[in-house]
Amino acid sequence: MNLPNLKEARKRTEKQVEEKQVDYNLKETFKNKKYFLRTYGCQMNMHDSEEIKKFLEMLGFVETNVLEESDLVLLNTCAIRENVHDKVFGYLGRCKHLKREKPDLIIAIGGCMSQEENVINEIKEKHPYVDIVFGTHNISDLPRLLLEKKEKQEIDVYSIEGDIYENILYSRDSKITAWVNIMYGCDKFCTYCIVPYTRGKQRSRRLENIVKEVEELKKEGYKEVTLLGQNVNAYGKDLQLGYDFKDLLEQVAKTNIDRIRFVTSHPWDFTDEMIDIIAHYKNIMPYIHLPLQSGSSRILKQMGRRYTKEEYIELVNKIKEKIPNVSLTTDIIVGFPNETEEDFQETLEVVHTCQYDSAFTFIYSPREGTPASLIPDNVTIEEKEERLQRLNTIINQYSLEKNKQLEGKIVPVLILGENEKDKNKVYGYTDTMKLVNIPKKEDCIGKILPVKIIEAKSFSLDGELVMEGVKNG
Ligand code: 5AD
Ligand code: SF4
Repeated sequence: MNLPNLKEARKRTEKQVEEKQVDYNLKETFKNKKYFLRTYGCQMNMHDSEEIKKFLEMLGFVETNVLEESDLVLLNTCAIRENVHDKVFGYLGRCKHLKREKPDLIIAIGGCMSQEENVINEIKEKHPYVDIVFGTHNISDLPRLLLEKKEKQEIDVYSIEGDIYENILYSRDSKITAWVNIMYGCDKFCTYCIVPYTRGKQRSRRLENIVKEVEELKKEGYKEVTLLGQNVNAYGKDLQLGYDFKDLLEQVAKTNIDRIRFVTSHPWDFTDEMIDIIAHYKNIMPYIHLPLQSGSSRILKQMGRRYTKEEYIELVNKIKEKIPNVSLTTDIIVGFPNETEEDFQETLEVVHTCQYDSAFTFIYSPREGTPASLIPDNVTIEEKEERLQRLNTIINQYSLEKNKQLEGKIVPVLILGENEKDKNKVYGYTDTMKLVNIPKKEDCIGKILPVKIIEAKSFSLDGELVMEGVKNG
C-alpha cells in the first residue's frame, strides 16, 4: 500500500527521546487534566497504550474511565478488520457530541487505522472536530502535538517506520505480568493482512536490550513476561547478528524470571531447535499460539502462508510430542474469497486433529490495499456466518474437553487480582493460560500458588488454593 502523502519517518535516536522526556517532565500544562484512553485490537496495541499513558502522565494528565469527565479522549485504533473501523467511527460520534458540550475537549486518534490513507481522508473530510492524528511510528511525537496543539486539525503520520529506539518508558497496567516488545512490524505479507502496511517492515530489538529489560522487570518483582511480535519465530532475521528466536528464548529463560510466554508464532519460521528450548526450560510456559488460518492447502497458498495442511499438522505433532501437556491455541479465518465447503471441511479436519485448547475465529474481512481484497468473492455472508458458527461449536467442545481433563488436578496458578464480579474471589492463570477463579485468601495476589481444579467450564476453571506441593497438570 502506498502512502504518498504521509511524511517519511525521521530518524530518532535514544538521545533525542531522552531529551524530550526530560523536557516534558518539567511541563505542567496539563496538570490534573483527565484523559480517557480506549484501546482497540491486539496486545501490541495494548502495550503501545502503556507507552501513550506514560507520556500523558508525564504531562500531568490523570486517567479517567468516564468519557464525559475527560479533557482528552484518545482512541488507539486497530485496522485488522472492518468491524473495528466501524466501532471507532461509531465511538467518534459520541466524542463529537461531547465536544459540543465541552468545546475544549481534545480528541486524538492513534494506532493502525491512522496509518491508512483512506482513514486519514475520511477524518479530514467528515470529522474536522478531531484535533490530532498520530501514527504507529511516532507515538513519541504525542507530547509535542499536545503541547503545541493548533486550532486546526493536525495530522502527523509517517509512512516509513524509522529506527527502533530503546529505553521506552511505560505506565504498565500490571505489576505482575508485563509485555516486552521483541520486534516491530512484519515481513510476511499474508495476502489478507494489513499489518505489514500499518506496522512496517520487521525490525528486531537487539537481544541484549531485551534481556536487560526482562532482568529489570524481574528486579521490580514481575512474575511473567510476554514476548511480543507479529511473528516472533522470525526474530533476529533482519539483524543478521548470528542469533535468532531460540537464542533469545534461552537467554530470557536464563534470567530466571518465573514465567515466559510469547505471541504470535508463525508455523513457517518455527524450528525444531525452538521446540527443544521451549521443552527444556521450566520457566518457558507450555503454551503456544499457532495461527492456522485455514486447513485447506489451496486456500493457504492463496493466503501466502507458505505451509500446507500436512506441514502444519506435522509441526503440531512435533510440538505435542516434545512438550507434554502443551496448550495449543490458534487463529482461524473462515470465508476467504471463494472458500468452498470442501475447503472448510479441511479446516474442521485440522481442528479435530489438533484439538486446540481454544481459538480466535474470524470471518474474512477485505482490507483495502491488500492483494486478497482484489479477489472477486462468490461466497455469501450468510454462508460465512454459518461456517463460523459450525466452527465455533466444535472449538468450544474441545475447549471444554481440555478443561475437563484438569478437573481434580493440582496446578500452579499465577494469581493476578480480584474477580471483578465477585470480590470474595481472585483470578489467575495456569502456565497453560487457563483462567481460574478461586475463593480469596490473604496475601495471595502476585504469587504462583498450587490450586486444585474443582470444576471446568468452556472458558474458565473453578479451583481452590491448596497448601501441599504442586504437581504439574
Ligand atoms: N480478515 C479477517 N481476519 C483477519 N486476520 C488478519 N487479517 C484478517 C482479515 N483481513 C486475523 C488472522 C490473524 C489475527 C490477528 O487476525 O487470523 O492471525
Ligand atoms: Fe499479518 Fe501474516 Fe504478518 Fe501475521 S504473519 S501479521 S497474518 S502478515
